[in-house]
Amino acid sequence: MASPRGEFSSRFGFLMAASGSAVGLGNIWGFPTNAASNGGAAFLFVYLILAFSLAYPALMAELIIGRHARANAVTALRGISRGPRTRMLATVVGMGGIVTVSLILSFYAIVSGWMLAYFLSSFSELMGWTSPAAWLTSGSAERDAIFTLIFVALTIYVVTAGVRRGIERWATRLMPSLLLILLILIVYVLTLDGATDGLRAYLVPDFSRITDPRLLLSAMGQAFFSLSLGVGTMLIYGSYLSRRENLPTVGGLVALLDVGIAVMAGLLILPAMYVALAGGIAIYDDAGGLIAGPGLIIAVLPALFDSMGMAGSLVALAFFLLMSIASLTSSISMLEVPVSYAVENHSMHRRKAGLLIGAVIASLSLIIVVNFGWLFDLVVMLTTEFSQPLLGFFFAVFVAWIWNRNSVLREIREGSPEVEHSLFWRIWPFYIRYICPAAILLVFVQTILL
Ligand code: PFF
Repeated sequence: MASPRGEFSSRFGFLMAASGSAVGLGNIWGFPTNAASNGGAAFLFVYLILAFSLAYPALMAELIIGRHARANAVTALRGISRGPRTRMLATVVGMGGIVTVSLILSFYAIVSGWMLAYFLSSFSELMGWTSPAAWLTSGSAERDAIFTLIFVALTIYVVTAGVRRGIERWATRLMPSLLLILLILIVYVLTLDGATDGLRAYLVPDFSRITDPRLLLSAMGQAFFSLSLGVGTMLIYGSYLSRRENLPTVGGLVALLDVGIAVMAGLLILPAMYVALAGGIAIYDDAGGLIAGPGLIIAVLPALFDSMGMAGSLVALAFFLLMSIASLTSSISMLEVPVSYAVENHSMHRRKAGLLIGAVIASLSLIIVVNFGWLFDLVVMLTTEFSQPLLGFFFAVFVAWIWNRNSVLREIREGSPEVEHSLFWRIWPFYIRYICPAAILLVFVQTILL
């Protein structure tokens, strides 16, 4: 091993890093519009149930394996294997996670680059520099390439500084700032005309919409992406967690923070969209649903900010800062997956590994930028709808079917000696053995059939 393994210095440090990974673009551009288009509070209710009954058990599986092995996913899964066949499967799943998360980062970095560019554009706007401001929101391939590279460089900077001095330090600075900016923006937007219509669309339950089984499945997919599951991110963060920590509790807190911030993002995004509607800006797409994803962030909201004059530039500045922070705390958790593998299994120096792997990922991003029209959606689809659920399935299988149940219990007992008599231990083993794999398979089959 090139250097001793890192460890988070405190529970707070871990919570900020892990919730930083979970809270990302997905929470802000996916969850709120999905909820509003699909039954408002009724969707929220279903989402909460799914997040805690399915995504939380899967998150626990990764945290438990990681802390037990104190190693990256490849080594960790191989360590709990039982023979040559499962060891082979372990390598395939672990490496699959590394490849998938690298591809996720390659498209995530492009979108995150947009967030940085829009942030700088609002700043230029405030300073009265109109032509740089216009270039920054121009959507040209040059701009995309430059800001993708800047974003990947920031990610490399944090990861190469190490677990405590990089990841933990930045997550504990950035996540509280994110929460503060989010709160300020919510309070401000709620004072604007049209905001209450947005709240109504978001929070008034329409139970007729949630009987559609496809909706349940897509809510589950959203929960898995949102908790960064299946690619070894939570496993590696779990491996940096102290043996004294109570795993079911810290895992529960991470899930709560993730869901809590997604719900709060809805209190900002939906009112903002309806304020935009009141100002004559289109907020529905051709199919009649609310505009979501990149279109929401780089078309609807900027149009709203533009219509608000000087105050709009300030709000835009805060909003794109919020988005950039959410992106960075997620991207560092992604880069950590391949970097930890290179450091631990190939004795590479962390700095060299970060630079080298970062450069490979940046090159992939540039290929996507140049072929954006057909490649971007394809990479998003393959990684988040295909690879992530499939790998998540295998993580559940490893912990529940391949690993020895007594060893699992022994690991959880560290830091929570009473766990055997808890509700967690009565429910979780059953969920991770039967419900999670079956539910993930359902999502998977649905994704392939649609
Ligand atoms: N959870 C992040 C989001 O909601 O935007 C996305 C993500 C982060 C996916 C880290 C995968 C990952 F490993």
